[in-house]
Amino acid sequence: MNRGRFITLEGSEGAGKSTNMDYIQQSLQARGVDIVMTREPGGTSIGEDIRELLLGHKHTGMSDDTELLLMFAARAEHIHKVIEPALQRGQWVLCDRFTDATYAYQGGGRGIAAERIAILENWTQGLLRPDLTIYLDVPVETGRQRAGDRSDPDRFEKEQNDFFNKVRQTYLHRGEQEPDRFRLVDASMALEQVQARLDEIVLELLD
Ligand code: TMP
Repeated sequence: MNRGRFITLEGSEGAGKSTNMDYIQQSLQARGVDIVMTREPGGTSIGEDIRELLLGHKHTGMSDDTELLLMFAARAEHIHKVIEPALQRGQWVLCDRFTDATYAYQGGGRGIAAERIAILENWTQGLLRPDLTIYLDVPVETGRQRAGDRSDPDRFEKEQNDFFNKVRQTYLHRGEQEPDRFRLVDASMALEQVQARLDEIVLELLD
């Protein structure tokens, strides 16, 4: 049994992540790929509870280290219970955000040193890394305009443009550092153009 492939999708706010996640899933399934869709933080019962702690407003003033460790606590559970078993069964895993988001949000956004994140990454993931990461990129202001004013923004959506600019710069920088793994998609294009680019990436994956 061949091991499945691990694909992650990242995107800024208003980049169309959910729509394009569904599109990639359908595109792979239409080509006969057995695929598990999941998300972070979340993807397990414990992980979804941690997601509520992280995104909700129950606790004000969460420290940056707590936020980082909760992300990795959810991730540890997710890897053990969902991601690794699926890959071992030969299924592909398409995950809505993964550790690049930690480097971008907790690293770039909150200012935690990448070296500290790397320690937790190695501890929690061992050798597990995404085979391919698609990053839907859109300038912060365009993305936020598209997303509109959410009536009930979560703890991250409440952040200012300055935070999201640092998040975006970190994603772009990581893309430059790892061009073999990253596929940058300009999500400010019309949806049909974005999806044409996603089709190319899917075909490349199946090659
Ligand atoms: P979303 O997946 O619906 O966009 O929401 C998840 C939020 O959590 C998003 O604002 C990014 C944030 N996040 C982090 O800050 N660090 C992480 O490691 C992950 C996976 C997500």
